[in-house]
Amino acid sequence: MGLSRRHFSALAGTAVLGLALGGSADGACAWAAPAPPAGPPRADRRRHTVGFDRHSLLVDGRRLVLWSGELHPFRLPSPSLWRDVLEKMRAHGYNAVSIYVSWNYHSPAPGRYDFTGIRDLDLFLRTAAETGLYVLLRPGPYINAEIDAGGFPGWLTATKGTARTADPTYLAHADEWLTRVNEIVAGHQYTRGTGTVLLYQIENEYDAFVAEPTGPAYMSHLYRKVRADGIDVPLFHNDKGRNGYWLPGSFDTGGEKGRWLYGFDGYPSPSQDPPDWGRFGPGGVTGGASASPDTPGFVPEFGGGWFDPWGGVWFKKKGYAESRRTRDAAYERRFYLTNLANGITLHNVYMTFGGTSWGWLPAPVVYTSYDYGAAFDEGRNATAKLVPMHQLGHLLQRVPDFAVLERAEDVTAAGLKVYHLTNPETGAHVHVLRNDSAAPVTSTLPVDGADLPVTVPARDARLLASGLRLGRRRMRYSTAQPMLALTAARREIVVLTGRRDEPTVTALECAERPTVTVLDGSAEHRWADGLLTVEARLGGLTRVAVSGDGVATPLLLLLADDETSLRLWPRDTPSGTVLAHGPHLVRSVTLEGTTARFTGDTVTPAGLEVWAPRGVEELEWNGARVAAERTASGSLRAARELPGPAPVRLPALGGWRRRSGNPEAEPGHDDSGWRRADLTASHSTTPVPAGQPVLFADDYGFHYGDVWYRARLTGDTDARSVSLAYSTGTQGLLMAWLDGRPLGTHRMPVPGNSTIRQGTWTATAEFPVPDADRAGAPRVLSVLVRRMQHDQDGKALDTHKAARGLTAVTFDGAGPEVSWRLQGEPAADPVRGPQNTGGLHGERAGWHLPGFDDGGWQRAELPRADRGQGVTWYRTTFTLAVDAATDASVGLVLDDDPERAYRVQIFLNGWNMGQYINDVGPQHTFVLPNGILRTRGTNTLALAVLSDGTTESGPARVALTLLGAAAGGVPVAPVPSPGP
Ligand code: GAL
Repeated sequence: MGLSRRHFSALAGTAVLGLALGGSADGACAWAAPAPPAGPPRADRRRHTVGFDRHSLLVDGRRLVLWSGELHPFRLPSPSLWRDVLEKMRAHGYNAVSIYVSWNYHSPAPGRYDFTGIRDLDLFLRTAAETGLYVLLRPGPYINAEIDAGGFPGWLTATKGTARTADPTYLAHADEWLTRVNEIVAGHQYTRGTGTVLLYQIENEYDAFVAEPTGPAYMSHLYRKVRADGIDVPLFHNDKGRNGYWLPGSFDTGGEKGRWLYGFDGYPSPSQDPPDWGRFGPGGVTGGASASPDTPGFVPEFGGGWFDPWGGVWFKKKGYAESRRTRDAAYERRFYLTNLANGITLHNVYMTFGGTSWGWLPAPVVYTSYDYGAAFDEGRNATAKLVPMHQLGHLLQRVPDFAVLERAEDVTAAGLKVYHLTNPETGAHVHVLRNDSAAPVTSTLPVDGADLPVTVPARDARLLASGLRLGRRRMRYSTAQPMLALTAARREIVVLTGRRDEPTVTALECAERPTVTVLDGSAEHRWADGLLTVEARLGGLTRVAVSGDGVATPLLLLLADDETSLRLWPRDTPSGTVLAHGPHLVRSVTLEGTTARFTGDTVTPAGLEVWAPRGVEELEWNGARVAAERTASGSLRAARELPGPAPVRLPALGGWRRRSGNPEAEPGHDDSGWRRADLTASHSTTPVPAGQPVLFADDYGFHYGDVWYRARLTGDTDARSVSLAYSTGTQGLLMAWLDGRPLGTHRMPVPGNSTIRQGTWTATAEFPVPDADRAGAPRVLSVLVRRMQHDQDGKALDTHKAARGLTAVTFDGAGPEVSWRLQGEPAADPVRGPQNTGGLHGERAGWHLPGFDDGGWQRAELPRADRGQGVTWYRTTFTLAVDAATDASVGLVLDDDPERAYRVQIFLNGWNMGQYINDVGPQHTFVLPNGILRTRGTNTLALAVLSDGTTESGPARVALTLLGAAAGGVPVAPVPSPGP
């Protein structure tokens, strides 16, 4: 007999209560606590159920609040580093990772798919499971993501049928992709116990054709396809805003009910007040998830930063540092706490680690760095933005009351927006206090008969809990925010947090007069009428020990300011819970006999203090024994500080060799092997000009990077001028030569905000034509087009099919006969993939690869100040000898007079690390990921410089820079980097 969902949650509720009563017999206050949340997931070979009710996910019937961060494996092309970032996320309180899987990254050609090396999805999913993170999987087929064509493969741009509709040709291609992804994913589902994939998204912010048959038919097709492939976890979609698109029941799911989640995305601007929906929202469809009353509040993407377009116009040319500054920890607290108050229990922050849109991955709108101003920067460093993520993530995982919050009676505090909620199962109350003004607000909040003094900094928020059961005690209230409650070292440890120097008051119910000792920091305390009140100003770690209050297990109250809270690392092991304090990062804890073994990172010398289960007497840090002593707090403390990283020395770059790289401009260049432009029809959205052949590069199988064209002009060759119409993304350019002589360079206009308009980057370059040496003799026109990838297709208008390359060519004053040939990138690099290599002569000849013999090239010194239109290559090698126990994050800096009109494609060991445009910017630092970068070995750097000849060009300064260094890290396997 099948149970209805209503019955199921009623039963789940009973189970929850039963567990709670069973676990709370001890002590003065018998309190109905909900079951502890499900612990970190593993591939444990057991079957699991993944369901939900209107409050939260229910994993094996236990409530789970999802605190997830977005990371794109394709933006970190070094599989060892996946583990690094995932471990950092887990340690900082995330319990899930959300990933896009990008079709174009895996498919160089129809029917060809690659899931090996840096594309090893299976390895990524295994690593996530080993790290103890759930996975939200988002394979599209369309993903947007500021990636080339929104994730569609280059080859799809030349196929017929409208993408993102129920068109059969498109569906056949999309199915092929999903089949290949699902073959891997099915075996990693949490339901099967063979992995931790918990939820699966189809499509992305799909808001086209919602009201027409093709939209629902398309969604229905994807749903059934994914199910047919054996994906049995709940599926979802991310509504672009709170529109109520693709609610349960809005399309045919083949009779299946209750396995579909509604979610919506939100990218609030920092100047905006956080919007309400759900519990406090307007209700109805525009109320967002309240439009879907039977599914839990779900935000598949909530802004954790924002991207920056070419020219850096959104962040005043200051780049991602400004994104991070304007969307700082306070921004996150304001929005995420508002979400929590509104009933969101599935939360994913886009991006949590942004990474790098290396090679030709970026959509035209963005430059190479996709740092995003996220909580972890592109160099894998933790930033101060982690404070709210760390505090809330650990809280939501360890204090179960937050999984079920209902709106409670309205309460006011002058000058603040107050959300009042309660957990009807436990009686806990939660207040979210938000300050939308530009000045700090001090106010009074009535809580449980007391008037609590509260201060909220400008444009910030705080969470205040009352009636909360923490371990075996009940906290009547605290103006500090709870972060965790756990039992370790034979005491209950409660951590409360807030901004440094804030005064706090915390009241604990203690039936009997307790013994209270302030072990560290300063705090006032008093006991009266069964209530212990502790007042402390936050600074470092204030420790208050409480015992003799009628509860058998003593209490250690830790009051931590934000910075200190980031150095507190709770961890569950099979033999009990551990709380560590001090190091920059704790990656793992294992208890073995009397020893607690830690792995982790230090960035400066740091203390190590550990609360561990009874019997643990010794500490080990990254494999080395650490002498430790017992403290009055019941912890073990390392007698000496853990060392910081060894100094990292980066060599200056020199020994350059140089070679000019555009032989295609020479009239005698042999282009007989090039593709003849002989097509007359195209599936592009760009019209083919009447009477001319198709010149669009994609139609000839050239999808990434530069493309060369050569025309032989015969007959009447005495044209006065030539018009070259071309289409690229933003920042595209065209260079032309006639008979080897430069005609000039045309560049797509340098930006205003219009840089991000899609599909409109077409221009016509007009060049006067110099007289031919001999009238009537054949002439050769050579054209190099730098394409800037394909537009995304956010509105499902096939904008990814806008032509790239030359589109039309006309001659004024003559009517030559013209025959065109073109040439773009060679066959996809079998290791580095389709987006690595473009169609420059040097790329085709392997000049970017390690091991290429450049002995015959000219020696060169930087800086250079050459003038001339064309391509010049520079190569050098450098050797690093970073200490094996140090994780050094290294970048390459390019800098020059911003007037100089040139750009550089950067190749490290043959890997295309991105594009530097000197006179557009704003990016100057390019992250070189370890694995591709040999931190103990020799590296080859190659720069392909395109200069337009209007100014002197460089490069000038090219240098290595240290972006971060930690003692610790993860073992890094070299990423294969084959030579020619
Ligand atoms: C969302 C989209 C993501 C990404 C983001 C902006 O609307 O779903 O893929 O494009 O915007 O970074």
